[in-house]
Amino acid sequence: MTDLILGQVLSFDADPFAEGPAAARILTDGAVAIDGSRIAAVGSAADLRARYPQARVHDHGRKLISAGFIDAHVHYPQTAIIASWGKRLIDWLNTYTFPEEMRFSDPAYAAEIANRYLDLVLQRGTTTVCSYATIHPASVDAIFTAAQSRGMRVFAGKTCMDRNAPEGLRDTARSAYDDSKRLLEKWHGQGRLSYVITPRFSPTSTPEQLAALGALWREYPDCLMQTHLSEQTDEIAWVRDLFPQSRDYLDTYEAQGLLREGAVYGHAIHLTDRERARLIEAGASLVHCPTSNTFIGSGLFDMSLASHLRVGLATDTGGGSNFSMLPTMAAAYEVAQLRGQSLHPAHLWWLATQGSARALRVEDRIGNIAPGMEADLIVVDLASTPAIEQATRRATDLWQQLFPTIMMGDDRAITEVWVNGKRLG
Ligand code: GUN
Ligand code: ZN
Repeated sequence: MTDLILGQVLSFDADPFAEGPAAARILTDGAVAIDGSRIAAVGSAADLRARYPQARVHDHGRKLISAGFIDAHVHYPQTAIIASWGKRLIDWLNTYTFPEEMRFSDPAYAAEIANRYLDLVLQRGTTTVCSYATIHPASVDAIFTAAQSRGMRVFAGKTCMDRNAPEGLRDTARSAYDDSKRLLEKWHGQGRLSYVITPRFSPTSTPEQLAALGALWREYPDCLMQTHLSEQTDEIAWVRDLFPQSRDYLDTYEAQGLLREGAVYGHAIHLTDRERARLIEAGASLVHCPTSNTFIGSGLFDMSLASHLRVGLATDTGGGSNFSMLPTMAAAYEVAQLRGQSLHPAHLWWLATQGSARALRVEDRIGNIAPGMEADLIVVDLASTPAIEQATRRATDLWQQLFPTIMMGDDRAITEVWVNGKRLG
């Protein structure tokens, strides 16, 4: 049975960082037809009603129909420590993150948090995440099992650390390779699940561990590899001390085979000219985590990079201060303002959908509304609170209607979520 979802349909024909806001396509009396797990057609409500007379119709009036949000960099194990007060990166990791990640030695706790986390993000319209797990293999099983039971497309990998982490949170070069390989073979390509090779960041991996993971990546070249890059200045100084041979932070990865297409670097704020040029040349992806960058006090991402390479958007849960991509878009807007860059709502919405999909190299499957794409969709109420409603009253186009929801919206704006062709709830 076909489902027909009616509303204002927002999709993208092109990249707004290349083509401007006209890259977006807005169908005011639009419709999306879903057959099984896929989008079958997109068009005017009148046309699709005529084409699918037997369809089950879900009429959302003036609400917005969009692709589900894609959160391209999260740490699901940090769910319970989100919004922890007062630290900068290294202190924050030692004080809050590592003790919490230690608890994931208990598979039951890992399963509890994985399920809690995915419920929280789905309620906020996020249908795909790319997550770090902990060093414990069972923490990877937990997030993939929880994703599978919800039909979600999820990326995740075992976080590897063999130094500068507490006893109990360290593996070795060998065990990181072996455990990652076993998990990769178990999960990668199972339904909608993708394994991601995941060294946490250079300060917590020896060159031997980075090399072992580089070797693993050569064996499985279609996987993604995710890590952190140049988030805070004191972190960069530490990397310089730990890797005296390296030209810069990026070189600590590059030297071990961890820079090429499919590399996904979180943050990437304080880049040298050489790093920028190499990232662009190598076709790497960057993920902007604006609420994390302001919350932990890291710095201001340079959005002009989005014109040169794949840039996704992310909460960085729990370094970020919110599970929702709406305040994440708002923070991206504000960070860009502080750098003198003005992001249009089309840029922001694209980053949270197609931009993140491109960063994860699945833009032909998710993150947009087009025939043949997987049916991960959200219905967004553009007047979800009295404050937002009154700010939209004089709107003369969709962008004016949408921007107050970007700046002030939360889970109340998400009225319906479809995952793989099925409506939740
Ligand atoms: N760098 C290394 N690990 C982390 C982490 O868990 N969160 C953030 N924000 N940065 C990191
Ligand atoms: Zn992170």
